[in-house]
Amino acid sequence: MGSVMAQTDLVKSSRLPGFYKLSIDERINIVKSWANLSEGEVSLLKNFGNLDPKIAEAMIENVIGAMSYPLAIATNFRINGKDYLVPMVLEEPSVVAAASNAARMLREANDGDGIRAEASRQLMIGQVHLMKVPSPRYAAMEIMRRKEELLELANSTNQTLVKLGGGAKDVEVRVIETGRGVCLVVHLIVDVLDAMGANTVNTMVEAIAPYLEKIVGGESRLRIVSNYAVYRIAKAWVRIDPKHIGGKDVAEKIVDASAIAEADIFRAVTHNKGIMNGVIAVALATAQDHRAIEAGVHAYASRSGAYKPLSTWDIDVQGYLVGVLEMPLQVGIIGGSVKTHPVAQIALKILGIKTAKELAEVMAAVGLAQNFAALRALVTTGIQAGHMKLHARNLAIAAGAHGELIDIVVDEMIKEGKITFDKAIELLKKYQRSNDLSQH
Ligand code: MEV
Repeated sequence: MGSVMAQTDLVKSSRLPGFYKLSIDERINIVKSWANLSEGEVSLLKNFGNLDPKIAEAMIENVIGAMSYPLAIATNFRINGKDYLVPMVLEEPSVVAAASNAARMLREANDGDGIRAEASRQLMIGQVHLMKVPSPRYAAMEIMRRKEELLELANSTNQTLVKLGGGAKDVEVRVIETGRGVCLVVHLIVDVLDAMGANTVNTMVEAIAPYLEKIVGGESRLRIVSNYAVYRIAKAWVRIDPKHIGGKDVAEKIVDASAIAEADIFRAVTHNKGIMNGVIAVALATAQDHRAIEAGVHAYASRSGAYKPLSTWDIDVQGYLVGVLEMPLQVGIIGGSVKTHPVAQIALKILGIKTAKELAEVMAAVGLAQNFAALRALVTTGIQAGHMKLHARNLAIAAGAHGELIDIVVDEMIKEGKITFDKAIELLKKYQRSNDLSQH
C-alpha cells in the first residue's frame, strides 16, 4: 500500500502546459485530484465572495479561487484636523483595536489637530542600467547635456499625465562599479501624480533606453522602476501632553523604547514591523502593491548604512511626548488593482481620499499610531494582555456565547487564567444554566 502511494506521488507532475488557458472549473478539477480536495473544499474555493471571478482573472493568471481576509474599520482617526474612518485588511488580532485606541488618544495631539502628516510630491525613479559604455564618466556628461530631449521623449509616452501636471521632470546619472564592470545608471524622475506609477515609469524608461544607447554606446540591461522611492516620502508626527496617554512615566518609557530600537537592530526590525502592521493593512484594503512599499521602506530604514527605526519618540522642553515617522510610500488611487478591485474602491470611498498624496499621509499617520499603540502596550501591560483578551473573546464566541455572556465568559477566563475552548464551554454552560434558573 505504502509503495503504491509513493508511486502515485512520483508520477504527479506540476508540468501543466496550457493550464492558463483552462476555465476556472477545469483548473480546480486538476488541483482537486492533485491535492485530493473534498467536495466541500472545492465549493469553498469556488466561493469568490465579493470578487467577481472575471475580475480575479483579469487581475492575475491561473486563478482557482479567491481568499477573503477580514476588512475592518479603525475608528477615531483625526489627521491634519480631519476625521477619517480607516479601512484595514489583515489577519492579525489586536491590530485594529490598537490602532483605534491609539487614534482616540492622539486626537488630542498637536493642539487638537490630531496626527499631522505630510507627503512630498509623488516622484518615482525609473532606472536604465547601461553596461559596456565606453568612457562612462564622459558619457554621463553627454546624457545630462541632452536632459531636455530625454524628458521630452519620456513624456511623449504619456500626454495625459503631462497635461495634468505630471510626467518626467528630471534626469540623474550615476557611475557604479559592478562585479561585471562599470555600469552607467540613468535615473528618470517622474511625477506620477495619483498613480502608483510603476507602469508609467516602466514605459518611459523603455522608451528612452534606445536613445541612451545611441548617445553613449553600450547596451541597456535593465529598464525598470526603482522601488527605493526616496523622493516619495511621507511624514507623520505628533506632540501630545502625557496626561492623555497615561502620564509622564508612560511617556518616558516610550522614549526608552525608541532609544532601544535606535541602538538594537533586533528591536528596530520589530519596531518597524509594528508600523507596517498599520501601513500594510491600509495598503491591502486599498489594493496597493504592498511588496513595493515593504521593499522601499526597509531599504529606507537602512539608508544611514545601519537598519534603524522609521519612527523616533522624544520628550520636548514642555514635557510633551513627540513622535516622528518618515517613510517612502508608493501608493496610487488610480489604475491597477485599485481600479479593478471593487472593495478597494469602497475602501477609498470610506477614506474619502481624493489624491495619492492624501492616501500616503493617512497611511503614515496610521503607521505612527500603530507604533505608538505597540510601544505604549509594551512598556505598560505588555502585548499579551490585549491579545489574550481577544483570544478569550474569540473562544467565547466559538463556544456559542453571545450578547453580554461574551464579556462574562471572557472576564471569568482571564480571572481564572485559563483561556481555552473547553473552559469557555464550561463557563458558558454554567452561566446559561444560572440565567435559565433566574428566569424561572
Ligand atoms: C506585533 O504584530 C507588532 C509588535 O511586535 C510591534 C512592536 O513590538 O513594536 C507589537
